[in-house]
Amino acid sequence: MPELELLVRQIRLEARNIHSYELVHPRGEELPGFEAGAHIDVQVAEGLVRQYSLSNPPGERHRYVIGVLRDEQGRGGSRALHDSWRVGARVRVSEPRNHFALRPGAGRVLLLAGGIGVTPLKAMAHQLHARGADYELHYCARDEHSVAFADELRAGLAPARLHLHLDGGDPSRGLDIAALLARERREGAQVYYCGPAGFMRACAAAAEVWPAGSVHCEHFKAPDKPAAAADAPAAGGFTLQIASSGLRLQVPAQRSVVEVLREAGIEVPTSCEAGLCATCKTGYLQGEVDHQDCILGPEEQCTHFTPCVSRARSELLVLDL
Ligand code: FES
Repeated sequence: MPELELLVRQIRLEARNIHSYELVHPRGEELPGFEAGAHIDVQVAEGLVRQYSLSNPPGERHRYVIGVLRDEQGRGGSRALHDSWRVGARVRVSEPRNHFALRPGAGRVLLLAGGIGVTPLKAMAHQLHARGADYELHYCARDEHSVAFADELRAGLAPARLHLHLDGGDPSRGLDIAALLARERREGAQVYYCGPAGFMRACAAAAEVWPAGSVHCEHFKAPDKPAAAADAPAAGGFTLQIASSGLRLQVPAQRSVVEVLREAGIEVPTSCEAGLCATCKTGYLQGEVDHQDCILGPEEQCTHFTPCVSRARSELLVLDL
């Protein structure tokens, strides 16, 4: 559960349907520090928790700034936040957590942002700028009215490092992501990207030729499944075993591991329940997992899984609980 009570000090209209919220300690105390790419869990309303990336320069200890796009087609978190948060309100958030951190290294860094996906990449650009690193931020948006944090980016980054790509709603008129990544592929380079589904797909396809370990992304929405997969029933049932007690539980086809554990009185903390935040990350000792998350890396997936969305391919899955 979110553990910090903060004050909404300022709300700014950053772009069409995008507000930024500046959160500070009510008594002016320092906040827990964070690195670029970190997010906080935000309690939007009772029982409604969402994750938002911190967009302000890491190193700032007096505030957290998040950017929130009002998504009319979403699950309701951003609408509730836009409608209910006001300056002066007290809100509950978690300490920052980071699953999208910049990797160490002196090589060139490419940051690719689509729409509201700019929020973690903006913090990365600030951090890289402060470090004097070799980086470029490519920010794709529909038009000038959709560009969030424009003044701050222009003021805080060297003009040669910031590239705005406005496509007027037609991606074919925007950034040629494939050409950019083909051109920029070089020894030691790293690429980070975040944005809506089509943008993520384009980045993932273009980055296929980059070496393993050099490509990093963060989804803010679970990617759409292909129609056939979306219609298909969930994979069949399987058995869970709790390593510490030997307890065995049956997971039917239509229930999640988290639900079955909960019912048995085993509480696994959750937040997004969509495979996006890793709050529910749990170790497993035996069995084969059908990983459905968008957050754990391949190495981590060898020992851990996200029981809110992931299931077992094997008949038995032994959990490190
Ligand atoms: S609760 Fe967020 S990944 Fe499981």
